[in-house]
Amino acid sequence: MTDEMPDTATGLDISGPPQEMYKLLRDHMPVMPIDHEMMQGTSVALHDDVVFVLQHPEIFSSDGAAEIGQVRPLIPLEIDPPGHSKYRKLLDPLFAPRRVADLESSTRELVNQLIDAVIDDGACNFHEAIGEPLPSQVFLTMFGLPVERTAEFVALKDGIIRPDGTDVDDEARLREETGQKIYSVLQEAIDERLEERRDDFISQFLDAEVDGHRLTTDDVLDIGFLFFLAGLDTVTASLDCMLAHLAQNPDDQRRLSENPSDIPAAVEELLRWETPVSGVIRVAVQDTELSGCPIAKGDKVAVNLGSANTDERFWDDADTVDFDREVNKHIAFGGGVHRCLGSHLARMELRVCLEEWHRRVPSYQLKPGTTPQYTMGLRNVDNLELVWEN
Ligand code: HEM
Repeated sequence: MTDEMPDTATGLDISGPPQEMYKLLRDHMPVMPIDHEMMQGTSVALHDDVVFVLQHPEIFSSDGAAEIGQVRPLIPLEIDPPGHSKYRKLLDPLFAPRRVADLESSTRELVNQLIDAVIDDGACNFHEAIGEPLPSQVFLTMFGLPVERTAEFVALKDGIIRPDGTDVDDEARLREETGQKIYSVLQEAIDERLEERRDDFISQFLDAEVDGHRLTTDDVLDIGFLFFLAGLDTVTASLDCMLAHLAQNPDDQRRLSENPSDIPAAVEELLRWETPVSGVIRVAVQDTELSGCPIAKGDKVAVNLGSANTDERFWDDADTVDFDREVNKHIAFGGGVHRCLGSHLARMELRVCLEEWHRRVPSYQLKPGTTPQYTMGLRNVDNLELVWEN
């Protein structure tokens, strides 16, 4: 990690808290051309423009938006309407609140096992001890991949989201190679389920029908590839961002330790403030404009969710982290047809983790001398060192 970490969308440094940078963008470059080696196109920072883009897939397409080592469009992320809804009809029930509620007690047990492993030490790297293993193990179990290979799968996911290449071309090559390895892992699991079904998502996908047709093996691979990335990174990033905030804001931390019933509202407000998935990409399919600025057909558009979630033109007291916010229509899970499929699962994991952590470690702080460093795009904090007294 370098000190100057450019954001893919804007080319600006976001290795520290990004909210001030978002404000600069909104005030001076709300629609900004990007000519960065990682991306050419336009970034969009105002809340209303961001929501407009998300709600108009007929102008701002998701087809071909993500370049993350896949060989076919990811399902459902890169499928535009009308094809998109048939996949969501199939996938939404798997992540419905009732299905997620069934996972709550095993998730709580897992959080406690992870806390047991570090509590007597009075210190841990939160990302390594909890932030990464918790969501990875929950996801791999429900999806149907072996939990004992978590470290290998997390490394593959990182090879796509944060490739350690020497330059942009090298990173593209690494993504392609890693993508092939992910397809092999998924294909192996599919082959096993073709022999014998189990109680997991892969087996359910193989038996699922869309418009009277079974999903093909390629369809299952294209769903699996997306889930692999979404399931293994986003909740980790959210937990890291939330604990980094709470470790540095003792009043907020005390409130959650003393009033666990405030945790669901705190999860929403911290999702707004931190926006762990800081942006998404679209491609303009026609010449258009946003806030009076032209956008050419074919332009990639970096949609800045983090900026929209802190835009003072939309939010009262945008810069205040306020667990008492009565209405909180944040777009940390995106918006429009591609709004996050895993939001109920993510919310449950975040709530249960914050409940158990604050019950058992009610007072903690950053290890003196350390400063959280956020990775770009999906905002993990892998150097999040916490200390507490036993
Ligand atoms: C706090 C954690 C999470 C955050 C902040 C988050 C954020 C997002 C965002 C912003 C999008 C919209 C992408 C776009 O418009 O291009 C999205 C879509 C999606 N997310 Fe999540 N996500 C989280 C957790 C999860 C989990 C745990 C899963 C599954 C295990 C998941 C699966 C998906 C899928 C499949 C889509 C694509 C939906 C579609 O295209 O219709 N997400 N997520």
